[in-house]
Amino acid sequence: DPDVLRDAAPRGLFVGTAVDMAALANDPVYRERVGAEFSSVTAENVMKWETLQPERGRYDFAAADELVEFARANGQRVRGHTLVWHNQNPAWLAEGDFSRQELRAILREHIHTVVGRYRGQIWQWDVANEIFDDEGNLRQNIWLETIGPDYIADAFRWAHQADPRAQLFLNDYNIEGVNAKSDAYYELARQLRREGVPVHGVGVQGHLGVQYGFAPDTTANLQRFAALGLRTAVTEADVRIPMPADTVELQAQAQGYSSLLTACLRTPRCDSFTVWGFTDRYSWVPDWFEGEGAANLLDEDYNPKPAYREVLETL
Ligand code: XIL
Repeated sequence: DPDVLRDAAPRGLFVGTAVDMAALANDPVYRERVGAEFSSVTAENVMKWETLQPERGRYDFAAADELVEFARANGQRVRGHTLVWHNQNPAWLAEGDFSRQELRAILREHIHTVVGRYRGQIWQWDVANEIFDDEGNLRQNIWLETIGPDYIADAFRWAHQADPRAQLFLNDYNIEGVNAKSDAYYELARQLRREGVPVHGVGVQGHLGVQYGFAPDTTANLQRFAALGLRTAVTEADVRIPMPADTVELQAQAQGYSSLLTACLRTPRCDSFTVWGFTDRYSWVPDWFEGEGAANLLDEDYNPKPAYREVLETL
């Protein structure tokens, strides 16, 4: 039996992780495991606006280039993350006072520059990230406020111009099951496809927590997007636990991971399953959710948790 995730996966399913570039540079065990265990990588932070365009018109591709090169050297695909978001935008952008025309030009230029640089090297791009709120209304952000709802279709068109072969995704959390927010994505995707906008997929992030339970209708949800002709992906899976974690919670966590993976396996053209970090040694969870942690497949010493074994067996 295969003993790493990438070899256990069925043909056509790529198993990925978000990559922390500091850990990749400084921790040889981390670096070795990213290369050995995964067939796809996502930049946890370094393809966001604040890293790529820290000052207006000045791009810094150093860290993103490093990841793309690491992926090439290890035979991995790359998911690009992300082109339009309300977070991790540089101050000049977030606090700038732009006219509609100016902001459109800024967005177009950024997308053309970034997607163009990696043309042919990025498999899937999260073009629009977290653009709805949990009620299913378009989220207030600089793009919506200044440009209006057309920024979404424009972002996809510009990305497609810059790399016609990249698969372009909508991406969000709390859309694993059928609910108001995933309904909003369903309607948006249908409308964009009808208008001929180059949208190719919907990513469900999969930031779960054992205390919230897991949507039982994740398969049905992914399948309704597939029925629209879209690809789907699990893009940021992790399952957090109120600390300290006990054995019952670690078992529940394994079920959370397998609920996402099983839904993906049952859905035609769900071709990537990505975890948002793979070891509790490096995780965004304790920094963002007070009192929660232990969200990943491996513990802080890289030992497999029940969730790792469950994912390996489910693949
Ligand atoms: C997170 C990173 O993991 C953190 O390191 C960073 O401080 C904040 O962003 N949804 C997303 C990701 O789309 O980009 C977020 O990543 C997690 C939630």
